[in-house]
Amino acid sequence: MTSPLRLGIAGLGTVGTGVVRIVQDTADLLSARTGRRIEITAISARSRGKDRGVDLSAYAWEDDPVALARRDDVDLFVELMGGSDGPAKAATEAALSAGKPVVTANKAMLALHGQALAELAEANGAPLRYEAAVAGGIPVVKALTEGLAGNVITRVSGVMNGTCNYILTRMEHSGLPYEEIFAEAEGLGFLEADPTLDVGGIDAGHKLAILSAIAFGTQVDFDGVQLQGIERVSIDDIHRARDMGYRIKLLGEARRTDAGIEQSMRPTLVPADSPLGQLEGGTNMVVIEGDAVGQIVLRGAGAGEGPTASAVMSDVIDIARGFTLPTFGQPASSLAPAKRANAVTACAHYVRLMLRDEPGALARVATVLGQAGISIDRMRQYDHPGADAPVLIVTHPCAPVDLSDALSGVVATGVVRGDPVALQIQTP
Ligand code: NDP
Ligand code: HSE
Repeated sequence: MTSPLRLGIAGLGTVGTGVVRIVQDTADLLSARTGRRIEITAISARSRGKDRGVDLSAYAWEDDPVALARRDDVDLFVELMGGSDGPAKAATEAALSAGKPVVTANKAMLALHGQALAELAEANGAPLRYEAAVAGGIPVVKALTEGLAGNVITRVSGVMNGTCNYILTRMEHSGLPYEEIFAEAEGLGFLEADPTLDVGGIDAGHKLAILSAIAFGTQVDFDGVQLQGIERVSIDDIHRARDMGYRIKLLGEARRTDAGIEQSMRPTLVPADSPLGQLEGGTNMVVIEGDAVGQIVLRGAGAGEGPTASAVMSDVIDIARGFTLPTFGQPASSLAPAKRANAVTACAHYVRLMLRDEPGALARVATVLGQAGISIDRMRQYDHPGADAPVLIVTHPCAPVDLSDALSGVVATGVVRGDPVALQIQTP
């Protein structure tokens, strides 16, 4: 048997302790599968004294993750601290610069610095792997870089943030408003330390940008993701969508268009009877479309100790086996800057607005939309006790960018209160 693979793990929170557990509990299985012992030699976290529910007494401790990454008895650096910059990035760079492989679950770091890190990894001949960074336990990075490598990928879509799917499905089942379910999710510890990462669509946008880079052979372009969070989705929106046969999901879509790569992460009405429409709670789903394979649907736990540690271990095992791949599935130097095509693909939209209930108000809205080339498919005004009338409009397919401009014109008429809410209806 070859020499052991010695891990240095920085970050001993939910994911880090999960990885320690797998290494400790399945040592024989791991060596049978890889032909090497996989051992932990050194660890790092913020607080040394914290009880983490696993025995860490055999491992050397480093306060500084960068020092951990540089230790001579660490062959593979496992970064599980999080944060796009700071110690996570510094320690990852230190390991790669020393020619050591890195495994990370850090989608924020990869979404913002993926290209530079991939170049550093390749310059030093050190693999950088991140299966856990996207959709937790679902092996979607492997699916794209390996299983579907013979396809021209045309579209990657899906639900990639479990917290948002939990909030939206709980609202629907309980009939309670967003604010109450948000507080419930916070109480259950589901939300990131900065909740806007989840509910603002940023976390899911990071994941989509990573998948998009692999799928289309472009540099990661997180700034090119059109982001819209779930904060303005109301319980009424959920009920009205359901009445029309839809459910609302925070849906990510990256597609190859004639104009370039289009990436969006936003609340979207999807058919209730589709696989995405049936997704409940914190589960994730990724749908991949390739020219040869057709459509692939992957579904599973997108977060949590076991699922995420499972994904980290798949990368560790690949490295133990000596299997390597360029970071985004092809050499970093061959990744083209992404040509952005923002909000060009036409789709139907659900638009909710509060209209001043006075003569001619509805006509002015219809006129502005018509002048902008937005065609109304369905329209309904709901019962209302006060002076403002809730109006729901479903448009015929139009480019989101055109609708957005048209709604600015609607607001400028002065007949609506507040900003309209516009949600896309999924294009098949
Ligand atoms: P946690 O907050 O549970 O754990 C973070 C760990 O990093 C803690 O042990 C913390 O130390 C340590 N840490 C933080 N800052 C420093 C620092 N400056 N120096 C040394 N150690 C530090 O995070 P998770 O385990 O949930 O997440 C880890 C990574 O995995 C993140 O990138 C996250 O986005 C990603 N991820 C997480 C998923 C999940 O389900 N939790 C799913 C998919 C990806 P201490 O414990 O002492 O405070
Ligand atoms: N906050 C993320 C989610 C954790 O809710 O899906 C996993 O990345």
